[in-house]
Amino acid sequence: MKLHDITKSVVAVAMMAGGLFSATGATPIYLDDTQPLEARVKDALSRMTAAEKVGIIHAQSKFSSPGVQRLGIPGIWCTDGPHGIRPDVLWDEWEQAGATNDSCVAFPALTCLAATWNPDMALLYGKSIGEEARYRNKNVLLGPGVNIYRTPLNGRNFEYMGEDPYLAGRMVVPYVKGVQENGVAACVKHYALNNQEQDRDHVNVLVDDRTLHEIYLPGFKAAITEGDAWAIMPGYNKYDGDHACENQVLLLDILKGDWGFDGVAISDWGAVHNTEKVARNGLDMEFGSWTNGLNWGASNAYDDYYLAKPYLKLLEEGKLPMEDLDDKAARVLRLIMRTEMNRNRPYGSLNSDEHYAAARRIGGEGIVLLKNKKGLLPVPENVNKILVVGENAIKMMTVGGGSSSLKVQRETLPLDGIKNYAKERGIEVVYERGYVGDVTGEYNGVKTGQNLEDSRSPKELISDAIKAAKDADMVIFVGGLNKSDHQDAEGTDRKEYNLPYGQDEVIEALANANPNTVVVNLTGNAYAMPWKDKVAAIVQGWYIGSEAGNAIADVLFGVVNPSGKLPMTFAKDLKDYAPHAAGDSAVYPGVNGDVHYKEGLDVGYRYTDKLKPGNVNYAFGHGLSYTDFKLGKASVTADDMAAGGNITITVPVSNIGKMKGAEVVQAYVHDMESSVYRPMKELKAFDKVEVAPGMTVNANLTLGKDSFAFYNPDTKQWTVEPGKFEILIGTSSDRILQKVPLTINESYTWKDSE
Ligand code: BGC
Repeated sequence: MKLHDITKSVVAVAMMAGGLFSATGATPIYLDDTQPLEARVKDALSRMTAAEKVGIIHAQSKFSSPGVQRLGIPGIWCTDGPHGIRPDVLWDEWEQAGATNDSCVAFPALTCLAATWNPDMALLYGKSIGEEARYRNKNVLLGPGVNIYRTPLNGRNFEYMGEDPYLAGRMVVPYVKGVQENGVAACVKHYALNNQEQDRDHVNVLVDDRTLHEIYLPGFKAAITEGDAWAIMPGYNKYDGDHACENQVLLLDILKGDWGFDGVAISDWGAVHNTEKVARNGLDMEFGSWTNGLNWGASNAYDDYYLAKPYLKLLEEGKLPMEDLDDKAARVLRLIMRTEMNRNRPYGSLNSDEHYAAARRIGGEGIVLLKNKKGLLPVPENVNKILVVGENAIKMMTVGGGSSSLKVQRETLPLDGIKNYAKERGIEVVYERGYVGDVTGEYNGVKTGQNLEDSRSPKELISDAIKAAKDADMVIFVGGLNKSDHQDAEGTDRKEYNLPYGQDEVIEALANANPNTVVVNLTGNAYAMPWKDKVAAIVQGWYIGSEAGNAIADVLFGVVNPSGKLPMTFAKDLKDYAPHAAGDSAVYPGVNGDVHYKEGLDVGYRYTDKLKPGNVNYAFGHGLSYTDFKLGKASVTADDMAAGGNITITVPVSNIGKMKGAEVVQAYVHDMESSVYRPMKELKAFDKVEVAPGMTVNANLTLGKDSFAFYNPDTKQWTVEPGKFEILIGTSSDRILQKVPLTINESYTWKDSE
């Protein structure tokens, strides 16, 4: 007998002794992956004791949960998410495990992904990050995030997909699918209404039902009902008095009821507060209790978790129903079988050339050219000397910001990306700091190793930059926010809408010294631009990760023609965002723990559409190209909506410039007669088309009956009222080029559960 045959029979004997095999020695159903998933789950569950079931629904370390050793069922490993695979931390600590095989490719932040307005990029992203997770043997990727961009002060907006529920929904679905193709679960977060970091662990959101369903839930709904996400993360905050993890409405009624979710609701780290409530109200797994999810925690408290011994005790005393435990354990088993026990999943890959290429491509497609006066960009041929100014040109941005912090294999800095191209073209590059912001470079023990100290005073820094600016043909300022507290970081919100560290002054001084000043800002949020009219070009660069410098330089030097579009409104002032309009603390950041979403549906452009145009610097959907496009007349074909048919609008897009480029044609619905308030327009379809110079390509915009519906809180039904609508077609929310009138003759109503 060969060695592996001996091993096999030893295992078989052991399993028979434990009663797993039938008398004939056949493989038990739960281990047989030719059997249907549900049969396997049921079989495994039927073999488990109550203690074993409780055992698999809570953590055993910072990021893992146990399986059932007696049955050979493995546990699961989770990882952050959502921009790269987090380095391994110690078993029970937030500090680094010190592994040498856990560096990764950092992909662009989700705001950048959303700015591509290209679902194919979301699929590529999901597939690539899923491969990295799989290679590192992680089963659950803690991401993506789809919380709506309600206020530009939210420190965590960089991890989300912007202000529009339709855009977020379209982008999240392929991300989830791409991840899960690898046998890795996507865990969509932070469900729901986690729209600020200030007081995040206890803030109680009060929002009307219509706004909840029309603005804050659609991204999650799409991830679950269309993306089939295998996991979701209820957040820290409360909704209507109850924490998200113990919220019957969010978890039982909507998620598991209306949307038919069959996956696992995994608590945010430390978001559970009460055994009975979480046990009854639909939470399936508990992680990170008695930690803040960031940097502290009780050690080895796992047996005392709310869903550990205290839960078992209440079950054994008959105070809580066993059916709820069975449901939770079945869901966790389903997750294990979809991931770790799926023998057919691919092996994944880490730090591959393909992943770097994907990161660079997504980054390049997400960068948004906001302004380009007299076509200063791409960098003209006659430029001999470029001055680069700004801390973000030389600062690693992948370390910091909270749980999304990474340990990268490499990160190209903007200054280096620019230098690479400049060298090829014989351009001299000089660098000036301009300002000093955050010189730290460490998160949970991962160090950038950069020394960013500079002893010059702000005055000296500016005067040195001005001197150099006068001597250059062109100035590229690279600034923005960073990943330190009160910037773009988990756990805190921003304190001001303006850029920090006196950058406004630096930019203004540079623009005065050199008319060819380009501003490139790396942020996850919008910000004030008092210098907007003084600079020649503005580029919104986001956080791009490992390939930041290359992707930015690709755009600046015209190797990539920008095609990104803003996924959020860049308003002029903070008060131009509805939650800040009245300066009412009850609306933001909350009073006595409550925050009232009094603005209702008026989030982002839904609010600024009511203001004078001057209140917006750059509108939702805005983004320029190095070429010019002309939209032809839209043609409409309509199938019978009552029979589930769609309306398709075809718009010819001609490239009338000299460079290949891509345009995003956007369709907004305007309801002209309605019994309820409707925002002036709402995005309901978009299509990104690539067009060669002199060519025309059709953009196809598909609208279904849900494109015209509002949520009626009284009947809990989506409702389309008959009447006149207009489809507004344009290339940004404030550049509407055509209006297609449309009359709907019948009324339609349906429920999410139908
Ligand atoms: C964050 C989550 C994250 C978790 C695990 C929490 O602090 O809110 O997004 O996935 O920690 O690191």
